[in-house]
Order: sequence, then C-alpha cells, then structure tokens
Amino acid sequence: MSSLAPGSVALITGGTGGFGRALATKLREREVTAVLADLDSERNRAVAEELGCPFVVLDVTDRAANEAVVAQVEAEHGRLDAAYLNAGISAEKSDGDLDLDEFLRVVDIDLFGVVYGAVAAAPAIRRAGGGAIVVTASLAGLSPMAGDPGYSVAKGGAIAFVRSMAPRLAADGTTITAICPGFADTAIIDRIREHFTAANFPVLSAAEVADAMVMAWESGEPGAAYVVQPGVGTIPYRFKGVPSAKTAAGETAVVPEALRPPGMR
Ligand SMILES: NC(=O)c1ccc[n+]([C@@H]2O[C@H](COP(=O)([O-])OP(=O)(O)OC[C@H]3O[C@@H](n4cnc5c(N)ncnc54)[C@H](O)[C@@H]3O)[C@@H](O)[C@H]2O)c1
Repeated sequence: MSSLAPGSVALITGGTGGFGRALATKLREREVTAVLADLDSERNRAVAEELGCPFVVLDVTDRAANEAVVAQVEAEHGRLDAAYLNAGISAEKSDGDLDLDEFLRVVDIDLFGVVYGAVAAAPAIRRAGGGAIVVTASLAGLSPMAGDPGYSVAKGGAIAFVRSMAPRLAADGTTITAICPGFADTAIIDRIREHFTAANFPVLSAAEVADAMVMAWESGEPGAAYVVQPGVGTIPYRFKGVPSAKTAAGETAVVPEALRPPGMR
C-alpha cells in the first residue's frame, strides 16, 4: 500500500515520546496499526498500552536491533507501510568547551539511528508495495543552533540523508521526507521551557507536528524537508541552488549522465 489507508502498518521510533504519542493517536484514528519502538522502561510500555498500540524495545543506535524490529513487525503484523524515524535527544550542555562524548552520543542517536532505521525499513516497505519513510529532523538542521552543535550536525545530516536517498527509494515506490519543526512542547524542551514562557515565545503543540507527519506520508514529495513553525504551518523548504561548474567556454557544465540518479538521466 503506497498511501496511508486503513489496515496499514507504521513503525514509530521514539514512539512513546511527545511527537510519537501524538502521531500514534492520529494514525489510530485512521485505523493504522502504529507500532511504538522505544527504549525499554515501565513508563514506555505503559504509555503504549494506554494508547492501545503494540510496543517493541529498540535502541536506534543498535544496527542489528533495527533489522530485528522490522522483522518482528512484519512477522506480527504482516507488513510495514511506513517508518517514522523520530527518536532523538539533544545535548544537556550548551556552552563552554564542546563535550565530545555528548556530541557523539547525539549524532549516534539522531543521525545514525535514522540511517540504520531507513536501511532496515526500506526492503520491508518495498515488499509491502511501497510507502513512506518520514524522518523527524528539526529546524536546527536548516538553521544550526550555537548551543547544540551535535544536534545541528545530526539534524543537518539527516536532511542531507533524506535528500540523497530520495531518488533511489522513489524508484521502489517509497517516499522519504524530513519534518523540520521549530520548538515544540514536549519533554525535549523541559530544560528550556521557562525561557519560552518568560519571553512569550510561541512553541508548537505535538499535535501540530503530528499533522505534518501524517501529511508527509499521505502527500509528501520525495526528498522534501517540511518546515513546521507556529503561526506559519507546514511548508516545504526551498533549498537555494549551488553555483554550477562552468566549462572553459563559460557554459554551464552538466553532471555526467552515469552520475545522475535514476529518473534524472
Ligand atoms: N520538541 C521539539 O522542540 C523538537 C523540535 C524539532 C525536532 N524535534 C525532534 O523530534 C523528535 C521527537 O522528540 P520529542 O519532541 O517527541 O521529544 P521526546 O523527548 O518526548 O521524545 C523522544 C523519544 O525518543 C526516545 N529515544 C531517545 N533515545 C533513544 C534511542 N537511543 N533509541 C530509541 N528511542 C530513543 C525517547 O525515549 C523518547 O521517547 C526528536 O528527534 C527531536 O529531536 C523535537
């Protein structure tokens, strides 16, 4: 099933967090089975149970575990139509010397967790006849945050990954897209929420972001990065072109055919 339809099966990593819960609720309303994958804890299992969603244990930094979870979803639910690669953390330390251990941990979860998840999910989605991979990136991937270089690198990398993978996945009937929300009211902003409140700075609700995540599955364009901002809604980000190479004669050089993705040859 290449589009969102009743009876579809979706996997959501970081599924018991703020965006995961809001998305699971919306998918359940559409009669989609939403399998919530998250770190193992009593709290996470209880959240899934309350939502009426199956729970699977997954640390997204574990390559083999990503493959095993996809196999489990196919075995238990018969198919996988969409993968929401949404698990993520941000750094706790925002100034002073860069904490390299923390930097690597954020990149491991927020970037490599996405890469492992996409590689594991793509063949299963192809077997289901095509579908969607939706990566929760961030506005920080388009506008880097001075307070969190690891997060900025990971989210920028996730957007580049989505854009570079889009043509080969589209050839299989799978649309990969990125969601780039501004600050939203979930646990990830607990440490800084008071500053937004004090400054009367608008933050998104998790439900607004979940609407964008649903849209990305239903009608997203391959390789698109959707900005979600309070008072603005969801809009595809328009990337600036880069300067093309010029030939000795001053003409715009075209990339050799063999190096272009399928569909652009
Ligand atoms: N809330 C925001 O302001 C905001 C803005 C832009 C992007 N995002 C991104 O949205 C995504 C969801 O975050 P959220 O706002 O719902 O926050 P959240 O903290 O409520 O949810 C994050 C979830 O990821 C899970 N997780 C963390 N490490 C994991 C791992 N190694 N393996 C599996 N699961 C893991 C957590 O257990 C949690 O359930 C993240 O990728 C985050 O970076 C959030």
